[in-house]
Amino acid sequence: MTKICCIGAGYVGGPTMAMIAKKCPDVQVTVVDINASRIAAWQTDDLPIYEPGLDEVVKEALGRNLFFSTEVDQAIIDADIVFVSVNTPTKTFGEGAGFASDLQYWELCARRIKEVSTTDKIIVEKSTLPVRTAEAMERVLHSGDNPVHFEVLSNPEFLAEGTAIADLENPDRVLIGGHETPSGQKALQTLVDIYATWIPRERILTANVWSAELSKLTANAFLAQRVSSINAISALCEATEADVGEVAHSIGTDSRIGSRFLKASIGFGGSCFKKDILNLVYLCESYGLQEPADYWRQVVIMNEYQETRFVTNMLHNMFNTIAGKRIAIFGFAFKADTGDTRESPAIKVCRKLVGEHAKVVVSDPKAIENAKLEMPDLLDQIDFEKDPYAAAEGAHAVAILTDWKEYKELDYQRIYDSMAKPAFIFDGRNMLDHQALFEIGFEVYSIGKGLKTHLK
Ligand code: NAD
Ligand code: UGA
Repeated sequence: MTKICCIGAGYVGGPTMAMIAKKCPDVQVTVVDINASRIAAWQTDDLPIYEPGLDEVVKEALGRNLFFSTEVDQAIIDADIVFVSVNTPTKTFGEGAGFASDLQYWELCARRIKEVSTTDKIIVEKSTLPVRTAEAMERVLHSGDNPVHFEVLSNPEFLAEGTAIADLENPDRVLIGGHETPSGQKALQTLVDIYATWIPRERILTANVWSAELSKLTANAFLAQRVSSINAISALCEATEADVGEVAHSIGTDSRIGSRFLKASIGFGGSCFKKDILNLVYLCESYGLQEPADYWRQVVIMNEYQETRFVTNMLHNMFNTIAGKRIAIFGFAFKADTGDTRESPAIKVCRKLVGEHAKVVVSDPKAIENAKLEMPDLLDQIDFEKDPYAAAEGAHAVAILTDWKEYKELDYQRIYDSMAKPAFIFDGRNMLDHQALFEIGFEVYSIGKGLKTHLK
């Protein structure tokens, strides 16, 4: 029986390994982590992350061929294949601080693997890493006089949160990079065979290791770039009375452009877009490529502009003062269908509103606990209220920051009746029926459309 160990039981390690275990009952999958409470939670009905459909997938394989454990060394020793899916955040210290990837968790894993292994293993980079990390890892793994052979593959993950299970079950593609040596190609084939259990062979792409590593950073940079591009146009729409939804629709029907990822918003969030682009910027700079570095850096600058512009618009439209005004935040997660709040634009929006002395009330169906963790210094200045109706009561404004579908279905007449007047709604996701809201009596601001007002 093939044995897989995955180091890192987070948003990627947990769901990807659960899917492999579900689809390959003859493969034994053990997911390990140093975070004991996370490992414990994976074995309860209250999983450590919220992801639609995840419970069923875990339940099906847990205890059969899917195991969670804190015994990192034993799982490595037993495994034929070791996936490393630990966090690779932006470095906060030393050279490259603010841009480069912090590889300390990755390298610790490599050292541990080298330390305890007594049989040959395939090591799979699942974390998102700078191009040529595999080279450094091979040097660590093969240092000293350990006779064990490690073959390093790059198998970046492309799942998006909120749709992780659908993405894993039916991915656009799986990408596996391996060395062009006989042992590299043999290892690559082993991993191809696992994915081929449920993914059509033509969607399993193979490449050299460096291309696979760089493709992951490039995919995220292109996706984020589309959001920043449409957000740049949204600012111009507001200045010219063009409608960003109409512009996005018009350009999206060009099959060369395509319609997805053109939704103007308060900006992209999530743990990866910003970190991966900054990493790309750092890589370009370290190879002396200043213009490519500046090009990609602008995607992040544009995103920050969009977040700031949203709060500035709130302030200006609410008569240049929001001090003492209650503002209900609908949605704190960085996107719908996840409780994840990492790099959520809502963090910056809330901090700026508190900075203007507004009375902020945060509502979210899944992310209230994480929201509290994001703003530990503001807990005495922000209220948290799961029920959106209660959050909006007495508020001067509602700001929609996450595209949860339940926000489409609320009774906005009831909300309007309970609010201070004039009652503002700032739709940071362009997801509501703005004409209907306007007819109820709201002052309605939306991204790329500006303010519809009753006040002259
Ligand atoms: P995460 O923080 O949710 O999980 C990482 C886990 O690794 C944590 O539970 C941590 O305790 C554990 N860990 C760290 N060092 C360890 C060690 N030495 N031994 C054992 N466990 C250790 O991170 P994530 O969101 O799952 O992301 C993991 C990687 O996947 C990152 O490189 C990220 O860029 C990439 N990625 C993330 C997503 C996503 O949607 N979150 C999608 C694609 C790729
Ligand atoms: C993204 C990528 O889509 C995944 O392919 C990748 O694996 C992952 O990053 C990663 O490497 O972590 P994720 O961040 O989970 O996935 O979610 P997305 O759907 O990409 O959304 C990212 C942000 O962009 C969200 O805040 C979302 O609201 C925003 N967005 C997205 C827009 O504002 N407009 C759009 O049109 C699309």
